[in-house]
Amino acid sequence: METKIIYPDNISEAAECIKNGGTVVFPTETVYGLGGDAFNEKAIDKIYNAKGRPGDNPLIVHISGFDELDNLVSEIKEYAKILMEKFWPGPLTLIFKKKPTVPLKVTAGRNTVAVRFPSNETAQRLIKEAGTPIAAPSANLSGSPSPTVCSDVIDDLFSRVDYIIDATGCEIGLESTVVDVSTDEVVILRPGGVTLEMIREYIPDAKLDSGLIDEDAIPKCPGLKYTHYSPKADVVVVQGEKDKVREYISSKVDEFSGVISYKSGAYESAGLVLYAGNNMEEYAHNLFSHLRTFDKHNIKKVYAEFSPEPGMGVAVQNRLYKSAGHKIIEV
Ligand code: TXA
Ligand code: MG
Repeated sequence: METKIIYPDNISEAAECIKNGGTVVFPTETVYGLGGDAFNEKAIDKIYNAKGRPGDNPLIVHISGFDELDNLVSEIKEYAKILMEKFWPGPLTLIFKKKPTVPLKVTAGRNTVAVRFPSNETAQRLIKEAGTPIAAPSANLSGSPSPTVCSDVIDDLFSRVDYIIDATGCEIGLESTVVDVSTDEVVILRPGGVTLEMIREYIPDAKLDSGLIDEDAIPKCPGLKYTHYSPKADVVVVQGEKDKVREYISSKVDEFSGVISYKSGAYESAGLVLYAGNNMEEYAHNLFSHLRTFDKHNIKKVYAEFSPEPGMGVAVQNRLYKSAGHKIIEV
């Protein structure tokens, strides 16, 4: 199919396409999303097909105002209202009990629906002009890292969608925090830019899903059970005392190896060394784009220096461990 790449000035065209049941890739503050009208089942089919996504993995519905919740959710608990007030618009997805009006295709047959109010201005304008909430997973082919720049979207989805909006954004670089607020407990199903610590400031009892802590437990966020975020290269995470980590990686690398390093200029014999960043926010922002860069340079094996930390570190660890298929070396 023909894909049109446009800039935000021409957003009306893309909004019209959503109204007509088409698909539009748009930027958000986390990663790019692959959107369609949340109430149009044909549009939802197109999204799953374009991504090659398994039908049992539900989509997030994006809104541009609180009033749009009326047609989506059947109950909003008091603590959910607090989270909405504090963190929306922003990188937080909340899972509510759904209204029957939400197609089961969006929720993969569940009686809950995931909703997010993004802060990115282009995303908000697209939803407003389309006049409907937009269902959107991350705009990557199923299994590969989420795209954070337009060229990565083009690599995965050109000729598979109607429109791609080329815009700035994706400052965070990892997908939103997913929090289940459909029961009496507040549970983080997927860590992200809104951290456990930030949520606990308002809801002290909030906790991480056991599936995120215990490797053998099954995560409640269906998407997290799939192999994810994986580049073609094999990824290995190396953790431990800084000097030992460097010594270990140095002994392994050759021209086909890539390294994500906290120190620039290290590992001269490696094929490609990319800088992790100064802190976990930077690591988060860089991770997915680095993984894609290694593939473009034909790197076969990636060693990622990593040192666990709370806050944003939890989200980085979650994505990094998954991209490595849980191959973690402690030195
Ligand atoms: O930042 C983001 O969240 C991006 C941007 C585009 O908004 N979207 C995104 O969507 O990451 P996706 O589809 O790649 O990930 C959505 C995650 C999946 O792991 C899915 O299983 C989970 O949310 N999810 C969606 N609906 C759910 C539900 N009703 N119950 C539990 N998990 C749900
Ligand atoms: Mg995704």
